[in-house]
Amino acid sequence: MAEFDIYLKEIAGAPPKGTVLCRLRDIEDGRAREFTFGDAKAPFYMFVQRRGAQVFAYENACPHMYAPLNLKEGVFTEKSGRYFLCNFHGALFEVETGKCVAGPCAGRSLRSVAVTLEGGNVVVL
Ligand code: FES
Repeated sequence: MAEFDIYLKEIAGAPPKGTVLCRLRDIEDGRAREFTFGDAKAPFYMFVQRRGAQVFAYENACPHMYAPLNLKEGVFTEKSGRYFLCNFHGALFEVETGKCVAGPCAGRSLRSVAVTLEGGNVVVL
């Protein structure tokens, strides 16, 4: 488990281990798919970004003000595709690590969600 992986059992509303999120082919290459778990009292928003045969999953909450990163559904990266862009104050996060490299929360990180690919499915670890 990576340094910033969310310990899902500690977060109300987060999907449990083994949850099948979607099929890889359901995510357009270079785009993301968003998911909401939990309930109105404890919603958990996350997204899975696809890059070819790789996926990167994070809670959709910017560490600056805990706002969702995106304005358009499924669009989380800036033009180069190398960084996630927070549309509120412009923070940039590495897709591979979730680390903020520019903006008001530089040095902090998105909280990653550990996922894997199993038989073409994106599954929570
Ligand atoms: S809420 Fe993301 S940079 Fe401010």
